[in-house]
Amino acid sequence: MKIVSKIDELRLQISQWRQQGLKIAFVPTMGNLHAGHISLVAEAHRHADKVVASIFVNPMQFGAHEDIDNYPRTMENDQQQLIAASTDLLFTPTPSIIYPKGLDKQTYVEVPNVSDGYCGESRPGHFRGVSTVVCKLFNLVQPDIACFGLKDYQQVQVIQTMVEDLSMPIEIIPVATVRETSGLALSSRNGYLTQEQLKIAPALAQNIQWLAKEIKTNNDFIGLAKKAASYINNAGMKTDYIHICHARTLQPASEDDKELVILAAAHCGKARLIDNLQVTL
Ligand code: PAJ
Repeated sequence: MKIVSKIDELRLQISQWRQQGLKIAFVPTMGNLHAGHISLVAEAHRHADKVVASIFVNPMQFGAHEDIDNYPRTMENDQQQLIAASTDLLFTPTPSIIYPKGLDKQTYVEVPNVSDGYCGESRPGHFRGVSTVVCKLFNLVQPDIACFGLKDYQQVQVIQTMVEDLSMPIEIIPVATVRETSGLALSSRNGYLTQEQLKIAPALAQNIQWLAKEIKTNNDFIGLAKKAASYINNAGMKTDYIHICHARTLQPASEDDKELVILAAAHCGKARLIDNLQVTL
């Protein structure tokens, strides 16, 4: 695996592959890799000749009160996992390479509507940071395809919408969420959980599943979501939101919608966990 942190080194390798007519897949990450990230690399290999991953803890997507300095950084271990997954190229830029003028002078990309609610509401500016950095990384890597985890369902919709709206010639491949046997979605944030909280946290996925079953026979979406929120709170977490939405627009689901997604976020100790489940009625 080749590791580069400078833009001209990245562009040189990409242009050599392009000249050879090779198809390039891209997996952007913030590092602290786990089996969820590695499943994206495996999926990327199924669609392309060369797989490029990036590790960049993007300051633009962290809020003022979110502790970017304490975001887990495990570069050595991440590299070993990417090598084992046959990644061809790893891009590890610094903030000054990505944002040479500083964050406040940086041109940004904002995707309307799908960025607004849910995590967009709880974390103002978060999706602007995500769409801006992913747009920039897409321009640097120029991949044919890019893989994103459905664990971050709203993020996938934001990226898909950006690609459509800005006519980017990139196919977005959504990849299923990798979970612990308890049902808990793998996440870098699980590292903040104590042994006790690790026993509580699966209640988020379990209550989303309960809700998915209930909405097949009961269309009181708001009442049922409220119940699920109180079950999550009773389990020892603090629900941030739980909503039943249209799977593509993310607007609150109406009775006639068939393709739905349940989106949820809850605080468990120091960690803010998110999860979701797609439901077809
Ligand atoms: P990060 O949280 O590191 O996640 C990188 C990718 O891994 C995302 O596409 C995410 O959805 C996926 N992922 C995380 N946990 C997963 C799981 N349990 N199963 C499957 N996929 C999982 O998401 C980001 O970084 C950033 O916002 C980024 C897109 C890199 C932009 O900075």
